[in-house]
Amino acid sequence: MRIQTVWSEQNIVHVSSQGIAVLLAEGFTAQDYSEVSKFVDTDFSMYLELKKFTGAAGAMLTLPILQDKKMTKIFFVGLGKAEHGIFNIETYRRALGSLVTTAQAKKLESLVFAMPSAVEFGVKAEFFAQQTSSILEIAGYKYDAFISKSSDDVQKDLVVTVCCATNDASGARVGFKAGQIIAQAVNRERDWVNTPPSRLTPTHIADMAQELATEHGLKVTIFDGKKIKELGMEGLHGVSRGSHQDPRFVILEYKSKKADAQTIAFVGKGITFDSGGLSIKPANSMEEMKEDMAGAGSVINSIVALAQLQPDVNVIAVAAITENLIGPDSLKPGDILRFYNGKTAEVRNTDAEGRLVLADALSYVTKNYELHAVIDIATLTGACIYAVGPFFSALLSDNTNFAEKVKAAGERSGDKVWALPFTPDFKTAIKSDIADMQNVGNPSIAAGTITAAWFLREFVENNTPWAHLDIASTAYNVPNVSYYRPGATGSSVRLLIDLAMEWKS
Ligand code: BES
Ligand code: MN
Ligand code: ZN
Repeated sequence: MRIQTVWSEQNIVHVSSQGIAVLLAEGFTAQDYSEVSKFVDTDFSMYLELKKFTGAAGAMLTLPILQDKKMTKIFFVGLGKAEHGIFNIETYRRALGSLVTTAQAKKLESLVFAMPSAVEFGVKAEFFAQQTSSILEIAGYKYDAFISKSSDDVQKDLVVTVCCATNDASGARVGFKAGQIIAQAVNRERDWVNTPPSRLTPTHIADMAQELATEHGLKVTIFDGKKIKELGMEGLHGVSRGSHQDPRFVILEYKSKKADAQTIAFVGKGITFDSGGLSIKPANSMEEMKEDMAGAGSVINSIVALAQLQPDVNVIAVAAITENLIGPDSLKPGDILRFYNGKTAEVRNTDAEGRLVLADALSYVTKNYELHAVIDIATLTGACIYAVGPFFSALLSDNTNFAEKVKAAGERSGDKVWALPFTPDFKTAIKSDIADMQNVGNPSIAAGTITAAWFLREFVENNTPWAHLDIASTAYNVPNVSYYRPGATGSSVRLLIDLAMEWKS
């Protein structure tokens, strides 16, 4: 346990704690902190003035005081300015992020604060409480599985109590619980991505998916290498040929209780390590390639959360999982593969392997299920990092209606996406003279993120509305966002959960 969030419908004065946080917006008055002031019998006004604490976004001030002969730490946290009367919720998320990391750095074991009013942020109480607990738990995450227990770097457990002393807290209470479920999924995804690649093998992911599915009542189907080959999935099978590790194709299904519920599918790229294959990567580009299964981890962990949150939409999560290594039977540049839907592609570069495994996964799920939409999630292209930078995932889609839903889910959840152009002009980049297409784009068209998406588009069957998220930019080492840590971010988990929860026919 690293961080635990606790819901309370009492006033903060009834919660005993080593720290109290006071969240203040720009232009605050003494009235805004009078309750805490009275409780700890201290007038803060001079101190705040002296330290020039204005409540600006990102501001954070710690004041140790003596209360009943006990040390208590007061944390002043800035909530920034309101725009058109509404406070920014991302500023709030980051304020909670710095609060948690500061409290952890100071080795606090307990912290309490009064949740601000949702109305000031222009959202419902349920959603605001959901954001509160999820960000606290996301911010408190640290991957310390391999840090010796004796080390100072091992994080202490921190209990954060969030107080909401209003007349009707029932909605907020539900939201708070949902936020904990969301954070658990985000943090489990981060654990998977952070796990060293020789430990997190395809079979290991499939075993964990199986276990989680059983625990949460999801239907589970898993294909091994032999079955994958029999089914004609030469993309997934081809990429796996360089490795001793057997590939896995994982299908998890959530069925809503609503009789006429629509069905959406999540498809994830699960390369547990991407060496590039024979088109081998330079050493420095390979260092973080354990992250290349983030898409698979995201779809699996999102559907596990959804099994608990029970949205009114059926969800199918599909993950194509293998290593991309080098061996005597490796895929070679020049090889031609035939995918599950019968189409063929010339492999010009074995490092463009993500689209090969996704081709089978997309055609499998769109051929075998009646879907209202399909979205795939992949750390697909290095170009994505240059195109949108670390604060957005790239969104590609030829279906404006579905793309809008994905964008809205990104906005609401804080898991932001930015749409790139996806016009047919780019499609000529993947033309091949000897197969239906080739797996790298023609350099004259550049735009590697877009041309990769056109490759995927060829495998969306039955006119299913489709969107693709390239999370190569956001999955790992996102700087300056206080609620992330070095390493995995869990990007797209919050978005997928929101997308399903808010799904409207
Ligand atoms: N997994 C990589 C993309 C990637 C790069 C993810 C950096 C995260 C961080 C992908 O399989 C890849 O190697 N793509 C190639 C495609 C190229 C060969 C057309 C790339 O982006 O260089
Ligand atoms: Mn690659
Ligand atoms: Zn890859």
